Amino acid sequence: SVPETFDRPVHIAVIGGTGLTQMPGFEHIGTVNPVTPWGQPSSPIQILSHNNTPVAFLARHGTYHQHAPHEIPVRANIAALRSLGVRSIIAFSAVGSLQEEIRPMDFVVPDQVIDRTKGVRPFTFFEGGIVGHVGFADPFDAGLAEVVKKCAHAMEGEGVRMHDKGTIICMEGPQFSTRAESHMYRSWGGSVINMSALPEAKLAREAEMAYQMICMATDYDCWHESEDVDVAMVFKYMAANGANAKRLVGAVLDVLTKQENSDMVLAKQWEGQTVAGLKFM
Ligand code: ADE
Repeated sequence: SVPETFDRPVHIAVIGGTGLTQMPGFEHIGTVNPVTPWGQPSSPIQILSHNNTPVAFLARHGTYHQHAPHEIPVRANIAALRSLGVRSIIAFSAVGSLQEEIRPMDFVVPDQVIDRTKGVRPFTFFEGGIVGHVGFADPFDAGLAEVVKKCAHAMEGEGVRMHDKGTIICMEGPQFSTRAESHMYRSWGGSVINMSALPEAKLAREAEMAYQMICMATDYDCWHESEDVDVAMVFKYMAANGANAKRLVGAVLDVLTKQENSDMVLAKQWEGQTVAGLKFM
């Protein structure tokens, strides 16, 4: 049977999106399946070892891609990672591009998000007598973003193209957008579009975890004169970009697991507290 916890705190997590359901090539040292007040995570969490540091890996859509975006148990995912001790999350996501210069296979480190989910996903830990309002003006973590950008730019010669900022439109799905919506999102200044940034980023903020998404463009949605997005296109480009994604996450983990960067990874002020049922290790 799969244990609920690991034998020591795990401070760093990677969440894999469509096309990134495992991390082959990384040393696997355990599998855990935490039970949280919000149920079980999308799939058992893999514990990897990187530079002798444990790193949690969670496949957002489940090991078999069995959870559609609106079905992902996001509260359980974030609570499960938090229960392991995670304080910094790097989250991958396949996205549609809303800008000509963001080409399929390009990476984007977004700094903003516009919420176009429909309020049907459970989106907060703060309810049922626990009242809390967290700031969300800057939904992503600038420190983690800096690390990701530096690592990606160092890989430019190897075919990695990184855009240093951008606004994600997070839509409800699971249907893709209409052409009118796609044009409207462009007029709003959207850079890329996905179905998974929220409520993940909001819940990570409520749980006081640093969170940065890395977007990988798989299509031009349906505003562009090229082919309209379909699922086959998303998987095709994700498969083509998988090797780059894995090298990028390896480089990011090289930095985050360095002893001198532990202050950035850890948010000590929450240590030992229990908030909203989350025990902060
Ligand atoms: N994920 C990947 N491509 C997408 C698109 N065009 N719209 C929404 N989510 C996506």
